[in-house]
Amino acid sequence: MGSSWQIFFVSLLLTHLLTLSVAQETPLYHICSNDIGNFTTNSTYQTNLDRLPPFFTSNSKNNYGFYNVSIGQNSDKVNSIALCRGDVQPNVCLSCINNATVELRNRCPNQKEAVLWYDNCMFRYSNRSIYGEGSGAAIYMWNPYNTTNASAFNDALGTLLDSPKTRAASGDSRPKFATGTSAVLPFKTIYALAQCTPDLSQLQCTSCLDDSITQIPICCNGKRGGRVVGRSCNLRFKIYLGMTTGSHRAETPSPSPSSPMTSMEIPTAILMENQK
Ligand SMILES: *[C@@H]1O[C@H](CO)[C@@H](O)[C@H](O)[C@H]1NC(C)=O
Ligand SMILES: *[C@@H]1O[C@H](CO)[C@@H](O)[C@H](O)[C@H]1NC(C)=O
Ligand SMILES: *[C@@H]1O[C@H](CO)[C@@H](O)[C@H](O)[C@H]1NC(C)=O
Ligand SMILES: *[C@@H]1O[C@H](CO)[C@@H](O)[C@H](O)[C@H]1NC(C)=O
Ligand SMILES: *[C@@H]1O[C@H](CO)[C@@H](O)[C@H](O)[C@H]1NC(C)=O
Ligand SMILES: *[C@@H]1O[C@H](CO)[C@@H](O)[C@H](O)[C@H]1NC(C)=O
Ligand SMILES: *[C@@H]1O[C@H](CO)[C@@H](O)[C@H](O)[C@H]1NC(C)=O
Repeated sequence: MGSSWQIFFVSLLLTHLLTLSVAQETPLYHICSNDIGNFTTNSTYQTNLDRLPPFFTSNSKNNYGFYNVSIGQNSDKVNSIALCRGDVQPNVCLSCINNATVELRNRCPNQKEAVLWYDNCMFRYSNRSIYGEGSGAAIYMWNPYNTTNASAFNDALGTLLDSPKTRAASGDSRPKFATGTSAVLPFKTIYALAQCTPDLSQLQCTSCLDDSITQIPICCNGKRGGRVVGRSCNLRFKIYLGMTTGSHRAETPSPSPSSPMTSMEIPTAILMENQK
């Protein structure tokens, strides 16, 4: 009896481990820009697009998970930008971007402009120049569970988001990435994350994040967690449902690799494209 239970639990554990190792990241969302235009099969544009992936390697001149690669001339030029979330390890970042290049080619087979988001990275390309272009929110995700007190939560969140926003925007050529934590009664800890692509100016980053913050009441009012994801910036927040300390802690100075935002628990994430 005892040993059959042991076998049962060992096999449960193995199944669990197997599931974990097989588990692959699935893209959060993608957008094929059907209104920009299409390229034809075997065109120079397609050839240039297919030449991109080898440039996303650790040898590339790359700053903090940001890649800015253009290939080709004139109307056949492909401009691409890739960005990993600021707390993602370099090897995971590269794997994510390279998967994104494959996924996006499959999902948008002939569009001249497209974008795809994973939890860990974003990849986009266009025949237009997209470097230094600040564009607003594109998709929302939220935790369907409500906070106990939406108005108190909104007040706390407004204050909390201000600091990561300011610090992310002021990151010069360095990563425009910041996280913050605060404990505001009656809530436990609230985590927040803000990031812009580093090609944005401070003004553009602030404006992109401000735009994202104004989307929160639309997507995520009183929710326990949410994300406003765009081509140029990202915003996330979540409540940690742990023990309350009752203290008003200032935000932590810098993100650690095991930052709680690394695995945002959004139990049954609901996704919506910004129709703006
Ligand atoms: C991008 O491609 C579209 C469709 O072919 C074209 O109308 C547009 O002018 C191109 N843009 C640039 C900057 O080349
Ligand atoms: C581009 O191709 C897609 C199908 O892949 C089609 O839905 C779309 O209308 C096309 N866009 C243009 C501008 O021709
Ligand atoms: C594109 O190129 C490949 C390889 O050269 C060829 O097999 C295929 O027939 C071409 N497709 C078109 C539509 O020209
Ligand atoms: C990014 O690419 C654009 C267009 O090719 C170029 O003008 C710019 O200098 C690049 N910036 C960096 C930091 O590589
Ligand atoms: C990339 O794809 C491979 C193969 O599908 C998968 O094993 C790996 O986990 C993916 N990496 C990321 C970061 O999603
Ligand atoms: C959250 O609150 C909204 C509005 O107050 C309500 O419609 C919704 O059913 C609530 N959701 C859950 C999961 O309790
Ligand atoms: C919600 O929080 C506000 C303070 O922001 C407080 O005045 C109000 O009484 C709280 N409501 C509930 C139901 O706890």
